Amino acid sequence: MGKPSLRSRWEARAARKYRARLRHALQGRRILITGASSGIGRAFALQAAEAGADAILVARREEELERIAAEFERLGGTARVYATDLSDSAVCQRLAETVLRKDGTVDILVNNAGRSIRRPIVDCKPEDFERLMAVNYQGPLALTLGLLPAMLAQGRGHIVQISTIGVQTGAPNFAAYVAAKAASDHWVRTLRLELGGRGIDVTTMQVPLVRTPMLAPTRIYEAFPALGVERAARRIGWAVVKRPVRVAPRWTTFLEVLHAVAPGLLQWVFTHGHEGFHRMMGRRLKRMDARKRDPRA
Ligand SMILES: NC(=O)c1ccc[n+]([C@@H]2O[C@H](COP(=O)([O-])OP(=O)(O)OC[C@H]3O[C@@H](n4cnc5c(N)ncnc54)[C@H](OP(=O)(O)O)[C@@H]3O)[C@@H](O)[C@H]2O)c1
Repeated sequence: MGKPSLRSRWEARAARKYRARLRHALQGRRILITGASSGIGRAFALQAAEAGADAILVARREEELERIAAEFERLGGTARVYATDLSDSAVCQRLAETVLRKDGTVDILVNNAGRSIRRPIVDCKPEDFERLMAVNYQGPLALTLGLLPAMLAQGRGHIVQISTIGVQTGAPNFAAYVAAKAASDHWVRTLRLELGGRGIDVTTMQVPLVRTPMLAPTRIYEAFPALGVERAARRIGWAVVKRPVRVAPRWTTFLEVLHAVAPGLLQWVFTHGHEGFHRMMGRRLKRMDARKRDPRA
């Protein structure tokens, strides 16, 4: 067997460092992860398991959660699961009460569960906005409010809010989704301003496109550049370790600043660039399909 390449040695070292830092950050802490049955939440839950986490896993699909909890324990963590529909605020309030009674104070809350709808505004119904507000904003809000008093009583807590770069840049065809995520971003921003001095940290994560089941209904995303799910999960892990105010790609922060200083210019870029970019990705998808049919193509 040949010598491992410099790159693989560097990656192994980075993975060891990540695991050690996450283990240290999670030691003696209880973490609650919503949306742990799939995608980014599932990947992060399993990374937390390798770091020995004491975790509470939440999503609707109980069987899926049980499977992940079993894997979690095999990897060295401890997990309890609560199959819960987070789009119902009353249910979220009850979940917070049950967790506090049965498991105790949650030190780190990762509000990751969410869903999106890709739909042009002219085809949207008010119900689309209501449904997405319920799961991306009202549910996580009720859960966070329910867990907050216990965090305040112990003088520390960390809330990680999983949002999207769409809030920074705007996102054509995602009006309902981006509106709901923006509502969440803003209420936790106020929470941070009010309670930062009392030991409560809040991290908002503007997540770019990530290859998860969420993208499955929209085929063209197969051609888009997207982050791998493990990398996206590691970003949550580093947020748990470092507790920054925000995690966002540089390029979307640049567009956000551009929007603040020259909104007309950003509008021009979108109007002229968006359709063209989609056409380019459409052609790329066709080439990918052709290569799948005939690898020599
Ligand atoms: N993938 C991306 O490109 C991307 C980009 C930016 C931001 N994000 C955000 O990242 C987070 C994770 O998304 P993902 O890509 O990992 O998607 P995913 O694979 O579809 O996972 C979504 C998770 O949310 C849970 N969930 C959805 N509705 C729920 C409900 N009503 N009650 C309880 N749990 C619910 C799902 O579990 P059940 O189905 O079992 O309930 C699942 O565990 C979301 O907040 C999403 O908005 C994703």
